[in-house]
Amino acid sequence: MSQDFDPLAPEDFDSPHADYARLRRECPVAHSNAWGGFWALMKHADVIRAATDSDTYITSKQNVVPKVAFTGRRPPLHLDPPEHTPYRRAISPLLAPQRVARFEPEIRSISRELLGRMVAQGGGDICEEFSSRMPIRVFNAWMNLLPEQSAQLAEVGRRYNVAVQSNDEAATKETSLKLYEMARAVIAERKARPLPVDQDAASSLLAARVDGQPLPEEMIVGTIRQVLVVGIIAPTVMIGSIAVHLSRDQELQQHLREHPELAEAATEEFLRLYTPYRGFARTAVSDVTLNGRTIPAGEPIALVYASANRDEDVFEDASSFRLDRPNMKESVAFGRGPHMCPGAPMARLQMRVALEELLAHTPRGFSLAGDIVPTRFPEIGALRVPLKFG
Ligand code: HEM
Repeated sequence: MSQDFDPLAPEDFDSPHADYARLRRECPVAHSNAWGGFWALMKHADVIRAATDSDTYITSKQNVVPKVAFTGRRPPLHLDPPEHTPYRRAISPLLAPQRVARFEPEIRSISRELLGRMVAQGGGDICEEFSSRMPIRVFNAWMNLLPEQSAQLAEVGRRYNVAVQSNDEAATKETSLKLYEMARAVIAERKARPLPVDQDAASSLLAARVDGQPLPEEMIVGTIRQVLVVGIIAPTVMIGSIAVHLSRDQELQQHLREHPELAEAATEEFLRLYTPYRGFARTAVSDVTLNGRTIPAGEPIALVYASANRDEDVFEDASSFRLDRPNMKESVAFGRGPHMCPGAPMARLQMRVALEELLAHTPRGFSLAGDIVPTRFPEIGALRVPLKFG
């Protein structure tokens, strides 16, 4: 089979975007021989079609490229509707905008503590010292974990985050199993002492019923584990990418610092420009033809959200940062269809507060102080961003 692009070739922070621009022009339904072979949808319209037609494009066979073989099934992402729906229903209300708003003071105080340490040392790697730590501490609060559980999860979660993004399979496996153990301990505790279902994800999952029956316990464990993974990796990468962009554009950095009221709109545009995912996948149940190319049934298809969000057919001047986009609702940063991110309100809040606090903590500006280390498939963005403050 033809190889239209090679995700295993050396990359820097910008090179995948240049390659995806080429593929959008020349070969929008691209094939790669990496990881046993997979297809990649580069255009916005094709990505939307696959994401919204869940009868034809299923996730239960392979939900991500490359396939992670050693972990168990984790709802809702690894299941198709209608099986995935009760898991989503149990957690989504706890991630709704009005529910997550109460975490803003906590997100701000965690951000201030972590950024305060960076200020004291004149900068540092924003991913290592801030963005790989903040989201997991927020997750701990959202999950109502006890202080000792939080401390353990913060440590293992951070190691897992780094292991996944650096393709360290042994460390990923080891930390993944530990995270499962911790999720099991939380479920056991909530079974013994349930919390109100409108305030606690584990209790809500335990209280859910399908045809009068509780959800299987191992699948509840898998759901908690799933939220943990998707909820910490994307924010880590996003904040790294925002820091790269603002280091390169000092004028924009200063403008946003002087106008904190723009933080919300800027967050949305950063999410479009640096969409952190390119490897969420589907498998077609029958042969499908997209953009004139036929994908045989049964082969993995990556929905390259990061490429769709820079599609010039949808976003004018798509590779530039602009605060005046009339069609931001077309952004697929959080996906579309039945698997669309239920954590988007929490993610937006974390990104906005992180941006506001980073700018407020660096009144004399920040700039790059070394090489950026990019992430690899299935994420896209920055894994290490050394910064110098002031
Ligand atoms: C910048 C941050 C984030 C981005 C860009 C992001 C993006 C996404 C995307 C694109 C999907 C769809 C996957 C697919 O189409 O297969 C997704 C799913 C999901 N996200 Fe997020 N996410 C972020 C943060 C979060 C957070 C903070 C949480 C929870 C606290 C979360 C929970 C989930 C869950 C549970 C799913 C699976 C939903 C399902 O399968 O029905 N995400 N996310």
